[in-house]
Formats: sequence, C-alpha cells, structure tokens
Amino acid sequence: MNPTSTVQRVDAHAKVTGVLRYGADRLPHDLAYAVFAVATIGKGRVVDIDTDAAQRVPGVQLVITRIDPDELRSPGFIMANGYGFQSLQPLVDDRVAYRGQPIALVLADTLLAATEAAELITATYEAEPIAVTLDDPGAETITQAEAIPIPMLADTVTGDADAAFAAAPVQVDVEVHGPAQHQVPMELISSVVEWRGDTLVVHEGTQNSGAIQNGVAQQLGIDPTQVEVISPSVGGGFGQKNSLLPHIGPLAIAARRLGRPIKLVLTRPQTFHQASFRPASRQRVRLGADASGRLLAAIHEIDQQTSRHDLFPGLYTEVSSRLYGIRDFRGRQRLVRTDVQTPGYMRAPFEHMSVYAIESAVDEIAYATGQDPVEIRLANDATADPVTGLPFSSRHVAECLRRGAVRFGWAERNPQPRSMRAPDGSLIGWGVAIGAYPGSVTPAIARLSVNAAGTVTVAVAGHEMGQGIRTAIARLVADDLGIDPVTVEISVGDTRHAPQHLTAGSWGTASALPAVHAALRRLRTELDLPSTGAPDLRAAVAAAGRPRVDVEATTVGAGQPTEPVVDRLRTGLVTIAGPEYPEFVTFSYIAHFVEVTVEPTTCRIRVPRVVSVADCGRVASPVTAASQVRGGVVWGIGATLREQSLVDTHYGGFLNSTMEEYPIPVNADIHRIDVDFVDQPDPLLNPVGVKGLGEVAMVGVSAAIGNAVFHATGTRFRRLPIHIEDVL
Ligand code: MOS
Repeated sequence: MNPTSTVQRVDAHAKVTGVLRYGADRLPHDLAYAVFAVATIGKGRVVDIDTDAAQRVPGVQLVITRIDPDELRSPGFIMANGYGFQSLQPLVDDRVAYRGQPIALVLADTLLAATEAAELITATYEAEPIAVTLDDPGAETITQAEAIPIPMLADTVTGDADAAFAAAPVQVDVEVHGPAQHQVPMELISSVVEWRGDTLVVHEGTQNSGAIQNGVAQQLGIDPTQVEVISPSVGGGFGQKNSLLPHIGPLAIAARRLGRPIKLVLTRPQTFHQASFRPASRQRVRLGADASGRLLAAIHEIDQQTSRHDLFPGLYTEVSSRLYGIRDFRGRQRLVRTDVQTPGYMRAPFEHMSVYAIESAVDEIAYATGQDPVEIRLANDATADPVTGLPFSSRHVAECLRRGAVRFGWAERNPQPRSMRAPDGSLIGWGVAIGAYPGSVTPAIARLSVNAAGTVTVAVAGHEMGQGIRTAIARLVADDLGIDPVTVEISVGDTRHAPQHLTAGSWGTASALPAVHAALRRLRTELDLPSTGAPDLRAAVAAAGRPRVDVEATTVGAGQPTEPVVDRLRTGLVTIAGPEYPEFVTFSYIAHFVEVTVEPTTCRIRVPRVVSVADCGRVASPVTAASQVRGGVVWGIGATLREQSLVDTHYGGFLNSTMEEYPIPVNADIHRIDVDFVDQPDPLLNPVGVKGLGEVAMVGVSAAIGNAVFHATGTRFRRLPIHIEDVL
C-alpha cells in the first residue's frame, strides 16, 4: 500500500495504540505528587489553616499554605498584556475570591498520601456575601467600552440603528440567555514540573507554551531562557488551556524546595474552578425588516459575566454586525463582575451565543414576513463588510447555504410549525442557521531542516490539541517536496525548538502553514532547487556540502508591522491580527441544516440529522477538517440540549462539576452529521489560502437546533440549554 495516499492523520496510529505521550505522562525518577486543598467559602478571608493532621500523613513531604508575593508575582491577565487565565495568583495572601480557590498545596511521595492529606486540611474563614449570577444583588455591571478603552472592544455602531428599527415595518425583539459552561477536555489539567540545574522544565498539555515559559519566568523573577515548556500533544484544550494556569508557579517553587520533580493532575471538579469557563450571558436583539424580509436595522446588546479581578472582554457584536448586509447596526457590550474565577474562551466563545441570538431573530423575521428561512438569508447576504466598507477577502456563505439545502433536501420542508411527523408520531422540525468566525492570525516562526538522509524536520509555533495541525503541516510539506507525510518530523508546542505562541481562535493552521510555506520557499532557494516539483533532497543536501541544511522563516498577518509583533511572539504575549486587515476583512463561514424530532409524550428532543457546509478557505487536511466540523456540531448539540454549569448562589462555586452531572453528548445522542466544504482558497489572507475552521464549526448549531425545535413545536426557547421540562 502506498502510505502517501492513505495517510489521513499522521498521529492516528500513535493515538489509537496509546503510544502518544501527553504532558503529565512523563514520570521522572523520584517524582513527588501534588494536590491542592481548596477554599470552601464563596468569598472572604482565610483566618487560620490547620495542617497538623495533613503533616502527619505518612509520605507527606511539604505543605505550603503561603508563598511570599515577592517570590511569586502576579502572572497578569492574558487579555491585559499578561500571561495568566486570571491576574489573581492563589496562595500569596489570605484573600478568597471564589469557591474552589487553592488555599494549600500538599506534596507527598504518593498521590494517595497527598490526596488524603489535602482532605485533612481545614480552614476557618471570614465569609462575605457573594454574587455569582448576572442577577444576584452585588453583581456590578459596567460598560465594556468605558472599562477597556481599546477600539476593538468598543461598541459597534454603523448608521442610526435606533431610528431605522423604529421605522421598520416588521420588528422582532428577543432576549436570550446563555448559561455558564465548562470545556471538559478529556485530558485533565496536569503538569510535571522539574528543575534541571537552573532550568525549569514544564511538561503540560497547553495551547500556549509561550505564555507558560514567559509567564512563569516573570512570576519567579528568572530569565525566560531558563524555562522550557514541552507540550507535543494536548488531549483537548478548547480555550481552558490557553494560558499560564496558577498551579505552575507554586509547583516550581515546591520542586525547588524539595529538590524533586513534581506531578499534579487536577481532579475534574478542580478543573471547573481553577481554570476558565464560558461565562453566562444575556442578550437582547432587536431586528427590523421590510415586508419582503429585507433586514433594515439591528440592535444587539449583551451583558456578559466576568470576575471581580479581571475584565474578560466580550466580542459578540464583531460577528453579529457582519453576519448580514445590515446598514444600520448598534452593538453594546457590558461586563458583569461576579465572585468567580475569571471566565474565558471556550470554543466559539462569543460567536456561539451571539449567533444563537441573531439567527433565532432572523428566523422570526422569516416567519413574520412569510419568507423561506434559506431564501431570506441568501437575500440579506453582505457584498462588502458593513462595518468598515472594506471587501471581504472571501465570503462563500451563500454557497454554503445553497449546497447545504440540496444535501439536506430542504425543498421538501413544509414551513408550517408542527406540520411534519415521523412514523412513530414524533414531531419533526427542520431548522437552518449560518455562522461566521473572525479570520485572525498570529505571527509565527517556522524552522525547517533537511539532513543528509533527506529527512525533513519542521518546528513551528503551534499546538496539537487533536485538531490535526500536525497532519496539515505534514501534508503541506509532503505535497510541496513530493515526500511521504509520515516521514516529516514535526515539533509543535515545544519552546526548545521554536518560539511558541497562543494556539486558539481558529488561527493555528492559518498562522503555522504560511510560516512553513515561507520556510519551504527559503529551503528551495538555499538548496538551489526549482520553485516547484519533487526534488531529490539527499542529492541537494550532498551538493550543498553540509550535513544538514537549516532555514527559518517568519510570517505575520497581512499588513502587520513585522518587528513589534514578532517581539510579542517571542515574549509569549497575545498578538493577533484580523479579522480587519488594512485592505480587507476576513471571516470563515458555515451553514447548518438540522432535523430534530420531539417525542410526543416525553418531549425528548433528538437530532437525527445535521448537514454542515463550511467555507474555511482551502481545506488543508480533509479528514481532520471534517472531524473538526463534526466535533463542533456535537458540541453545539451539547451546548443546546445539555450543557450548563449550575452555580450555587449561596455558597459559590459550580455544583455539577463532574462528568456524571455535567452531561455532554455521548454516542447515543449523535446520529448523522454530513460535512461538506466549499474549498475555495482565500486569495488574500495568506499564500496558502487557508482560513480558520475549528470554532466556526460550532457557530450557528444552536440556532439551527432552536429554529428546528420551533418548527417542530411552534415554541421559541430563549434560554439555553433547552431541556425536556421546558418543552413539556
Ligand atoms: Mo479557543 S476557545 O480560542 O481555544
């Protein structure tokens, strides 16, 4: 069998045979185990901690309850020129900002001893009243544009939306609510931290080894060159692993004091409280249209939860203002301070709920004007970016809708709600929605080497969280050089081999591939090879008279100034360009068509069939791309019908912080998901023609399901998730 033609995912074999090693799979000699004890109040102060019983557990080596703030500085907040998922560093003072915050760290010879000891730690507190929901007394609402004066985070205003809405003959005014949700990646948050001389080595599954490297160096007051972060594969990130987490600094200090390497694996409930989550949100959408369904005005107002200590900025209107060609738009985003750890990015962080609101409202306009839900979307497509007036670099959302409608069989739909039934009597609903996601990129440095045997090695900024970035890189290199993709050695997520940066926001492949592409061009020049065609690499390296040939290339976003952004890449600070570039605006798009069935007596909602057609530019890796879309659809089904982090308004914290009580879809919930791609290269964003895909895959799924549930039942549901008891 010819491996080139059959390789669909270069790490598939290592994954399914369990050979692939994740961060905390490393087991160095003399390992000690760490477990955190956590606060059991929602807010206040630790008055006293009793660690006597913990110290007496056989095998316990060290219990840390307080670290001098000069020894462990704040990591800073990742969205405010820092590195941490939040600015607050536990253990450096007596303050408790949220339930579940670490108050002590136990180090022991075994995991069992560390766990037992941590459970024996008790504290006395001075508790304060808390506010953990948007509506709790004491939750403080502030306007984002005033609180964070950065143009990108300002209100989005074009034309006069209030006047245009007031004058619109057809009006829809809806309020929708999104719950707090958690990422629940399969790989728990985990680290192995060790000192090799003066060098701190961190093994951790992360989306941002650059932030860990530079952030922990800042916290400890050491040079970033003294920190190595190794994260070759991540068992799912989804935004929860996008920054320096607050366990690493204390582990580094403990490892130094003990003179031993340390391993920490957070329990699942701890991952609900010691890292970020999707914040609760409340949105009001007003849409105005003429009698033919032409959209005339949109007003989109959002309140989003944040913590007391950080302002997690919302970007809901970035996408809602571009979804259609609406001239008069007004968006306003507010933040609500509550007593939680700082929330953050979770797949399609803002777009998921933003598009749920807008696409539910568009469906209502379709019904109010008697238009077909697909036709009304096609008729309102944007020809240029309504916010800036710039052209879109590529926009094939209409093609996504047309192709999806055919694949799904949309023409057979009876628009009347409650009109379609399955043989078993279940109500059938068919719904459609589109989604968009900003086309952002980061700077990236790619290093390419070829040795005398002709083996190609690539190191680049990027992380493999399961999305398939390794396969996309391998295919690009293999296609260019005419070699077998499995022979390409790829290093991602490793600060020893290339400067690392945040892999998130669907910019991973769109940032890494252009850098690798540029390095390939440089390699051909260096080896005096023709610009295309399969070269004889061994002969070329031999002719160069060197044991190996190394090249490096750096790329930035279109129109970005190179030097400052590459400096930021090297210091691990968040650096992104887009979706607005000097000459154009870039988004990825998708259309989802969903069939639901609602069982007549139990009102159980099933999703037997989904068709999703995406425009992500050129498809760099067909199999992993299709898997990403399926994963996004599965997540959308979970987010719409299942997932909700329940908060305890009296004691704080999240109540259902286990996989038993936080139900995500299982195989039995998932049926047919047909995926297709427009596969048109974006001509402007980068020479490879790729846009992002991972996040747009989920955008609009909830709205398509909600619209299908309306078609089945005749009822609009404003609050996610939609549970059986809501439909009964
Ligand atoms: Mo993604 S939610 O930007 O890791």
